[in-house]
Amino acid sequence: MSKTILNRVILNKTALNKLFLFFILLNSAQSFSQTAETPKHLSQTANQQAAVASAHPLATQAGIDIINQGGNAFDAAIAVTATLAVVEPYSSGIGGGGFYLLHQSKSDRYVMIDARETAPSSADKDLYLDEKGNVIDGASITGAKSAGIPGIPAALVHLAERYGKLTLKQTLASAINHAFNGFPVDEYYQRMVRFRLNALQKNKAASDIFLQTGDTPELGYHIVQKNLAKTLQKISTQGFSGFYKGELASTMVADVRQNGGIWSVKDLADYKIIERTPDVSSYRGMKLIAASLPSSGGLVLSEILAILSAFDIEKMDEAQRIHIIVEAMRRAYRDRAEYMGDPDFIEVPSEFLTSDAHIKSLISSVDQNASTPSASLKAVAQPSGQGSDTTHFSIIDKQGNIVSATLSINYPFGSCFVAKGSGVLLNDEMDDFAAKPGVPNVYGLVGSRANAIEPGKRMLSSMTPSIVETSERIAVIGTPGGSRIITMVLLGILEFYADKSADEIVNAGRYHHQYLPDVISYEPDVFDESLVNALQELGHKTKALERTYGNMQVIVLDKKTGRLDAASDDRGLGKAKVLP
Ligand code: GLY
Repeated sequence: MSKTILNRVILNKTALNKLFLFFILLNSAQSFSQTAETPKHLSQTANQQAAVASAHPLATQAGIDIINQGGNAFDAAIAVTATLAVVEPYSSGIGGGGFYLLHQSKSDRYVMIDARETAPSSADKDLYLDEKGNVIDGASITGAKSAGIPGIPAALVHLAERYGKLTLKQTLASAINHAFNGFPVDEYYQRMVRFRLNALQKNKAASDIFLQTGDTPELGYHIVQKNLAKTLQKISTQGFSGFYKGELASTMVADVRQNGGIWSVKDLADYKIIERTPDVSSYRGMKLIAASLPSSGGLVLSEILAILSAFDIEKMDEAQRIHIIVEAMRRAYRDRAEYMGDPDFIEVPSEFLTSDAHIKSLISSVDQNASTPSASLKAVAQPSGQGSDTTHFSIIDKQGNIVSATLSINYPFGSCFVAKGSGVLLNDEMDDFAAKPGVPNVYGLVGSRANAIEPGKRMLSSMTPSIVETSERIAVIGTPGGSRIITMVLLGILEFYADKSADEIVNAGRYHHQYLPDVISYEPDVFDESLVNALQELGHKTKALERTYGNMQVIVLDKKTGRLDAASDDRGLGKAKVLP
């Protein structure tokens, strides 16, 4: 434990508590209302460059090619999405969903394209329970029944029709080419396959496409997806109807139902993209625009940043700073578990959660000298879900249009179910709903009735595509990582605030707390022994993870020079490219 912490904890605890209370009172006049405080930065600067950062070099190249062909950031987003769907099938795909945070430079408008999956119309809250009311192991994770109605095909069409300059034929060409001709297997692909091998082997269509004679493909083996190429072609020529109506839709529904799923033709035809207002909040003059509900990302970040605004974390030593950040994470994730879900189905008290009164009560419950056991906070009535694989990309074009997009099929290779004949690997996003009150999901997240399954409802997400801005710089930021997405974006934002480069932001060490389980998990070697001791001395449980996590893609714009700095996380195999 560091000397400073020892002094604080052992010698000076009472005095410090008094000081802390004084500090809170001193701050009581300060407004924590996020919207009211949002700084009005000049959102746009004339940049002369364009950049794409994504989790796969072929997808980044597809985006760059589209910009070189005269497309804008939104066209590039279509190309990157579709190419990732082909070459990163374990992370996202046209059988999945996601959130696109857009900034249109001309009108200085921010909008979130909600392409989240929806629950089929015959789904109900007990969909994954047995007759005794227990959660059926794996039912919401593997197979046709775990799939929500996909949103990505509708998003591609929506982006092309409302925001792009090029045709879908142009923007989908690269993805179709990679699907038709195949892409080579790398080590990361092999790792993802090994993780889901049993499930992939259970579905012949999935096994035929993603495995080599029923097993993990060898390095360099080509994954060819001819049916997916045809499906993408259909979308490029017929738009929404090509996927959601007609022959393809009927064939997919028939195969889903034959395999225990509950999709209907009407569910597909009824799917709708929703344009939503993103969440806006601030932190010491920095403005954050992030995904809004049904992603919990923006709201949870708002709460965390509002709590942190009351503490001088930049001046604290490392253990104290991490302690305060963790206490803020704990409290915001608790609120996530209790209150958050699809705002079109439940009343989420967003205003209350970011109100002065609520934030002040959260701040005053933080003990600077000791962790607050999660069990001592007001219990959450009831569970929720989250996936570990997902993908993020960031794009800025030469006109200053921005896309920050996080997309997912949930678990690696989603449901591991390919609807016969379509080449479409379906998501298992239904696991992001709360399957049963009080039972944590595969990622240990708990939730409430706010996130219970209902027909047509969108499952709560942690995907947090964000755009963050100071008076000098703008960052486009996001990452995959299930329940850890929000805390990764938070740590990335704090790095950005500390004036770090894109490379430093994506490669900074990571740690996480999500209320339950009550433990700080951290990447290997990110905390040294003395830091672990100091945190344990403050009452925290700590857990060193076996592997690193996340795959952050960041572009930073220097407003004065208009220059771009882009980076793709060293933990993944992605690529960031800046066009001169
Ligand atoms: N399936 C990951 C998320 O939506 O948070």
